[in-house]
Amino acid sequence: MTHRIAVIGGDGIGPEVTAEAVKVVRATDVKLDTVDFDLGGARYLRDGTILPDDVLDELRTFDAILLGAVGTPDVPPGVIERGLLLKMRFELDLYVNQRPFEGVGPGQTAPHRFVVIRENTEGPYVGEGGVLRRGTPAEVATQGSVNTRHGVERCVRYAFELAASRPAHHLTLVHKTNVLTFAGDLWQRAFDDVAAEFPDVATAYNHVDAACIYFVQDPHRYDVVVTDNLFGDILTDLGGAVSGGIGLASSANLNPARTGPSMFEPVHGSAPDIVGTGRANPTAAVLSAALMLDFLGESDAADRVRAACEAPVAGSTTEIGDELADRLRHQPT
Ligand code: NAD
Ligand code: IPM
Ligand code: MN
Repeated sequence: MTHRIAVIGGDGIGPEVTAEAVKVVRATDVKLDTVDFDLGGARYLRDGTILPDDVLDELRTFDAILLGAVGTPDVPPGVIERGLLLKMRFELDLYVNQRPFEGVGPGQTAPHRFVVIRENTEGPYVGEGGVLRRGTPAEVATQGSVNTRHGVERCVRYAFELAASRPAHHLTLVHKTNVLTFAGDLWQRAFDDVAAEFPDVATAYNHVDAACIYFVQDPHRYDVVVTDNLFGDILTDLGGAVSGGIGLASSANLNPARTGPSMFEPVHGSAPDIVGTGRANPTAAVLSAALMLDFLGESDAADRVRAACEAPVAGSTTEIGDELADRLRHQPT
C-alpha cells in the first residue's frame, strides 16, 4: 500500500529537516507518494499566499501531512503561524497534539518516558479578543481563552484512553486552577467526570508552575500529562530540553476520528539562528515521521525508525539523515 503524504517544508530549517525525514522513511519498506507544497514565509513574501481554502481542500485528500516548521523574521509574527499552522490545526480539527518524551534528564540517572497531550484547537490560541485605539496611550488589547466542554472533554478522553493503554496507567492534569478559576474549573470537572469511566487509571493534578519544577527535578512521576493549548506549548519545549534536547522532540497533531489527514511535525520551530548552517538536528522530524507511520498503520516501520534513532548520531543535518537511513537499511529484520 502506498501512502499519499503532503510535505510542507515551510520556513527556516523546516525544509532541511523534512528532507531528511522523508529520506529516512524511504529507507524503510513503506511506500510513500509525496507531494511538496510551497507554503510558508518565502511564498507569502513572493505572492501573498498563506493557505488558501482550495489548497486546504487539496490537503484534505492526503493520508497525512508532514510539516517542517513555519515562521520567519522577514514576516510579522503570527502571520504564517496563525494563517498556515493554526489554520490547519483548526480546520482539520487536529484536536490532540501528542508529544512523547524519553530520555535521561539533567541530574537524573534513570530514563523517563512520558507523553504530553496538549489540547490543540482551543484556549488562548483561538484568537478571541481584539485591540482598540492601537498606538495611543488609551490602547486596549484583550486575548481571551476559549474552553468548551466538548473540546476539553474529547481531549481529556483521548488522554485517558492513551493512559489506559500504557503499562503505568497514570494521567496527570496540568492547569492553573488556582488562578484561572473559570477555565480551570471546566477542565477539572471534565477530567473528574471522564476519570469515573476509567477506574483503572490513577490520576494526579499539578499546577503548571509546579509541573515546570517536576519536569526537571522529578520527571519520573509522569506517564501521560493532559493540558491546555498554551500550557502544553510551553511545557513541551521544556519536555524537549529535559529529554535530550529540542532537536529530538517529535509531535503528532491528530484528528483521532480520522475524518481527514493528521499532521506530523517536530516540536521545534524554524530556528532562524541556525538555518543553512547544517546544525539542525533532523531527528525530531524523523521521529515525527515515525509517529506518522504509527498513525498510518505502519507500526513495524515506525518502531524500526525509532530503533535507528536510539544510538546517538553526530554530524551535520544531512549526515545525520544519511546515517539514520543507513542504519535502517542494515537493520536486522
Ligand atoms: P525554535 O524552536 O525555532 O528555536 C529555539 C532554539 O532551539 C534555537 O536556538 C534553535 O537554534 C534551537 N533549535 C530548534 N530546532 C533545532 C534543531 N532541530 N536542531 C538544533 N537546534 C534546534 O523557536 P523560536 O526561535 O522561538 O522560533 C523561531 C520561529 O519558529 C518563529 O517564527 C516561531 O513562530 C516559529 N515556530 C514554529 C513552530 C512550528 O512550525 N511548529 C514551532 C515553534 C516555533
Ligand atoms: C508549536 C509552535 C506553535 C504553537 C506556533 C508556531 C504557532 O510553537 O507547535 O509548539 O504555539 O503551537
Ligand atoms: Mn511551541
